[in-house]
Amino acid sequence: MKIDAIILAAGKGKRMQSASPKVLQQVAGKVLLQHVLDTSLELKSCQPHIVVGDQASLVKASVFAPKNSKWFKQAKQLGTGHAAKQALKGLRAGSVALILYGDVPLVKSATMNKLVKTAGKRSLALLSFEQNSLPNPYGRIIRSPKGKVLEIVEEKDATTEQKKITEVNSGIMAVASNKLDELLKGLKNKNAAKEYYLTDIVSLANENKIPIKAVKLDSKEEVLGANNLEELNQLERNYQLLKAKEFLKKGVIISDPARVDFRGEVKIQKGTSIDINCIFEGKVEIGKNVIIGPGAIIKNSKIGDGSRIEPYTLIENAILEKNVTAGPYAHIGPDAHLEEKSEIGNFVEVKRSKIGKGTKAKHLAYIGDGQVSEKVNVGAGTIFVNYDGKNKNKTKVGKGAFIGSNSSLIAPIKIGQNSMIGAGSVVTSDVPAERLALGRSRQRNIKKK
Ligand code: UD1
Ligand code: CA
Repeated sequence: MKIDAIILAAGKGKRMQSASPKVLQQVAGKVLLQHVLDTSLELKSCQPHIVVGDQASLVKASVFAPKNSKWFKQAKQLGTGHAAKQALKGLRAGSVALILYGDVPLVKSATMNKLVKTAGKRSLALLSFEQNSLPNPYGRIIRSPKGKVLEIVEEKDATTEQKKITEVNSGIMAVASNKLDELLKGLKNKNAAKEYYLTDIVSLANENKIPIKAVKLDSKEEVLGANNLEELNQLERNYQLLKAKEFLKKGVIISDPARVDFRGEVKIQKGTSIDINCIFEGKVEIGKNVIIGPGAIIKNSKIGDGSRIEPYTLIENAILEKNVTAGPYAHIGPDAHLEEKSEIGNFVEVKRSKIGKGTKAKHLAYIGDGQVSEKVNVGAGTIFVNYDGKNKNKTKVGKGAFIGSNSSLIAPIKIGQNSMIGAGSVVTSDVPAERLALGRSRQRNIKKK
C-alpha cells in the first residue's frame, strides 16, 4: 500500500515563546520535524508531504528530507484542516494519507503502520490515548453510549462535561487519499478559534458513512505533543528515560537513568557502565566493558572495549582503541586517534594527533598535530608548539622516546626513537634517535651576599 505522509509543520507555535518556529525546537538534539520525518521514512513506500508556513524557507533548510519529498506552503495559518488541504494536490492516486503533526515527534513507526493498516481503503483511523492528568490541552474523543466515535471536540470548544473526558486525540489519522479530499471539502471554521480543524473530519466521516476506527494506545509517551517549553521539556525527559531503559535492557549499566542524555545515534555494548551526568552526542559507538565516569561528554567518537573514561572528560571526533584511559578532565579531539593501552591523563588536550600503543601523557600537556609513536612518555607540562601564527605544524615523536616535563617542542620537528628530552627544554631542531637533548640554560648556584 502506498502511504502519503502529510506532516503539518506550518504553525508558529506562539505558546513556545520563541523566535524560531515550533517544529524547529529540539528533542534529544534533533528538531521535532526531523523526528517525525525520519520515523515516517521507516514505513514502506512512504512519500513525505510537508506543509510549511511560518518561516517556511528556514524550516525547509533545517531538515534533511529525501529527494522525493514534496513541500507545500500554507500562506496563512488557518488551522490544521486548512494545512492538510494544501497537500491534497500532491497525493498519489490510491494511496492512504497518514496525517502527522510536526509537534508530536516521538510516534513510533509501528504505531504509524498500525494506523494505516486499520484505515485500509475504506475507513478513517485515528489514534487516541488516555490523558488522566491536568492540564489536558488535547481534543476530546466523543463516543456514543455504545462506544461509537462520534466526533472530536477541541478543549477550547468543549463543555464542562466534555472536558471531563480523558480519552483524547493524538492528532494522528489515516484515511484513503480520495476520501480525505472529500472530507476536507466539508470543513467549516465555526468554532472558538475560527480555524479549519482537521479534527472535524471525524463528524464529517460519520455523515458520509465512512467507518471510524479508533486505535487506543496503552502508553501515551510516544504521542505527547509539545506546545510550550514545559511540554517540550517533558518530551525530552520521556525520550531520555525511554532511551536509558533500552540500554539497561541490553546490559548497559546506567547509574541513574534520569541523569544521562543521548542526543544522536548512540550504540553502546553490554557491560559498559555510565555514571551520572554524561552526554552522548551525534554518532557514537562504545564497545564492551567500558567504564565511563561522571560528567563525560562524548561526541561523534568510537571507544574500544575495556577503555576507561575518567570523570569530566570531553571526547569529540576521536577514536579510542581498546583499553585506553582518558581523563579525568581531559579534552580528546577533534581528530584524535588513541591506540591501544595509551593513557591520557588530567588536563591533557590532544588535538589532530595520533597517540601510539601504550604511550602515556598523564598530566597537563598539549599535544596538537602530533604523530606520537608507541611507548612514548610525555611528561607533565609538555607543549607541542604547533602554531607559528600562520600555519599548524607537525611534531613527530619516535618509539620509546621520553619527553621530560615542561618541554616545548617547536614544530615542525622530529624527535627520534628512544631519545630523551631533558625537563624544561625548548626544542627547536630535530633530535636524532638515541640522544639526550638539553635545550635549557645550565644551572648556576651563586653565593648569596
Ligand atoms: C491538535 C488537535 C488536537 C490534538 C492535538 C494533539 C486540531 C484542531 N487539534 O491541537 O485535537 O489533541 O493537536 O497534539 O487539529 N499547524 C499547521 N497549520 C495551521 C495550524 C497548525 O501546519 O494552520 C500545525 C502545527 O505546526 C503543528 C500541528 O499542526 O505541528 C498541530 O497544531 P497545534 O496548533 O499545535 O494544534 P493543537 O492545539 O495542539
Ligand atoms: Ca500541538
